[in-house]
Amino acid sequence: MSKRILILNGPNLNFLGIREPEIYGRESYESLLRYIEDRAKNMGLEVEFYQSNSEGALIDRIQQGYREGLDGCVFNPGAYTHYSYALRDAVASVTYPFVEVHLSEVKERESFRHISVIKEVCLEQVTGLGFDSYIKGLEILNEHLKG
Ligand code: DQA
Repeated sequence: MSKRILILNGPNLNFLGIREPEIYGRESYESLLRYIEDRAKNMGLEVEFYQSNSEGALIDRIQQGYREGLDGCVFNPGAYTHYSYALRDAVASVTYPFVEVHLSEVKERESFRHISVIKEVCLEQVTGLGFDSYIKGLEILNEHLKG
């Protein structure tokens, strides 16, 4: 049976292609989803997508994943990365593994983006690869789930 992975996106990621294209590129959120879906199929993974601009909705989705028996999650928490202890606690509360991903190279941007309060409760953090950050996240989860 193929593994079920949630691709979870936080605030403003639905505005890809519109928001700060010099940082995040000109491709839309929908094209990100198509790219991931395609690559995941080749890896034999089943992916589902959820995006919300609200912290509580993201927490609810993480908890729902536990009840559904998800196998893993690739999570771009957006700006919540840098300060949401509530999301960190949600990730730490569930038993399935997470990889935190970012499109941009957060370590080379404003100093507030150098901090992640979530990465310590994830297997790894992947930054700066654009859409491929998500693919690298899937590869890390896939290896972990095989092991
Ligand atoms: C981001 C980086 C965050 O600092 C920012 O707030 C985002 C996007 C990224 O994917 O590069 O919303 O998570």
